[in-house]
Amino acid sequence: MKINVLKSRVEDVSCGVLIVGLFADHDIDSPLRALDDSLGKGLTHLLKSKEFVPDWGKTWVHNTLGKHAVKNILLIGLGKREEFDVEKLRRASGIGIKCAREIASTVVSTLTLLDVPKTLMYDRAHAVAEGSVLGAYRFDQYKTMGKDKRKDITTLSLIADTQPNADKANEALRHALTVSEMVNFARDLINQPPSIMTPTQMSVMAKRVSSERKVKCSTYGRDDILRMGLGGLFAVSKGSTQEPKFIVMEYRNPKAKRTVALVGKGITFDSGGLDIKTEGHMQDMKDDMSGAAVVMATTAAAAQLKIQVNVIGVMPCTENMPGGSAYKDGDIIKTYSKKTIEVLNTDAEGRIILSDALSFAEKNYKPDAIIDLATLTGACVVALGRWSAGLIATNDQLADRLILAASHTGERIWRLPLYDEHKEVVKSQIADVKNIGPPREAGVLTAAAFLAHFVEKTPWAHLDIAGPAFIKEAQDYIPAGGAGFGVRLLVHMLEDWAKE
Ligand code: BES
Ligand code: ZN
Ligand code: ZN
Repeated sequence: MKINVLKSRVEDVSCGVLIVGLFADHDIDSPLRALDDSLGKGLTHLLKSKEFVPDWGKTWVHNTLGKHAVKNILLIGLGKREEFDVEKLRRASGIGIKCAREIASTVVSTLTLLDVPKTLMYDRAHAVAEGSVLGAYRFDQYKTMGKDKRKDITTLSLIADTQPNADKANEALRHALTVSEMVNFARDLINQPPSIMTPTQMSVMAKRVSSERKVKCSTYGRDDILRMGLGGLFAVSKGSTQEPKFIVMEYRNPKAKRTVALVGKGITFDSGGLDIKTEGHMQDMKDDMSGAAVVMATTAAAAQLKIQVNVIGVMPCTENMPGGSAYKDGDIIKTYSKKTIEVLNTDAEGRIILSDALSFAEKNYKPDAIIDLATLTGACVVALGRWSAGLIATNDQLADRLILAASHTGERIWRLPLYDEHKEVVKSQIADVKNIGPPREAGVLTAAAFLAHFVEKTPWAHLDIAGPAFIKEAQDYIPAGGAGFGVRLLVHMLEDWAKE
């Protein structure tokens, strides 16, 4: 799909589908009036007759039967104007693009011209481009049937009314494209079958995406992991025949005043290990590397956008399998920090590999902040569902930066508390810490508290993305499967911070 900005009046456009958004309780007014006039007031009549009521998310295709250079008009109901915002614009764009591609291959969107309160052309064009590119994503490389019938959009044009607006829209488009393509890159990594997207394949992808963007990328295999003292990652990898990989991407900007370390959980398949998962709980466990996928994509995006912050992406990658050499309940592991972990459940493996990665990032890079992303606990899904990630932070400023960024990108995060008591209950009798807390009590927080033992003094935030990382039912601009949750919010947060 090629996407560009078109400076034109709506009535002068020619295309297969023209996407038009309509608010409930509003008549056709400029900039659609001239188009409506040329259609003999067809749109006005349609609304008057109540055949189409523009409630939120409703769609209607109006064929112009050769009377206009626009072959079809796709109407999208936007609901009440006072409830409309940038996120709804993104969602409407996702709805629009999926519907439009069923009709024709050349599409012009008028959604950029909508009167969205408190927005500039830049924001609107950004949202429409994002919603469209993210909504049009599909992962169908393994489908052999029905592919021929698949329709794809060849060009999408975002309409702008004036030259200054067209310039702004172009600027927004370039940015939105870079970010959305990196979200789709993360989605591709997550959606690949686990026997394809192995730790080794993750390292191949990290090398590739880094070399295309002048990012330094180091990947370490089993022997290095052992030699470096990454005992947690090594232990979790023992039950698998796949070699673990410890991946570090370094993007540095000469003008950067700060360094942020991003750490992502990279379990390419979580069987649970010897504490094996039961039926139904293992199906989606290829998604357990979503944190690493998002860190890889964000670091690459930061480099491509030349954000003035140094970004260190740290991705411990391994399978969690129950092979004959698997780590066992009762084992004690020495981690990179020299602290020891008593293993009481091999399915709580994410925190074990992250313990190494967090202290590795802190010790070797002395970052101004560490942010980790992990599909860490089922408890977080119980608490917040698929609709929000859990945020646990030791620093209010860092938490607020993330919350503010998330409010702009529509990725929801919800802050949860971290008390000394949480850190107490994961202390072990025979080692320093144990990898589970008391049963059925605040599992999302005891997991975070465990991680907190491995960050000494750096401001740290933990995003438990177990809910929104992978979704079963498509949302407006998130197709079912890997969501790439977190890329846009981290990019936004890094850009905001760079400006300070
Ligand atoms: N990868 C899972 C967490 C998960 C569950 C992610 C559901 C997405 C959806 C994690 O490794 C895990 O198995 N956690 C256990 C921890 C428990 C044994 C303390 C869990 O949440 O059940
Ligand atoms: Zn697990
Ligand atoms: Zn896991």
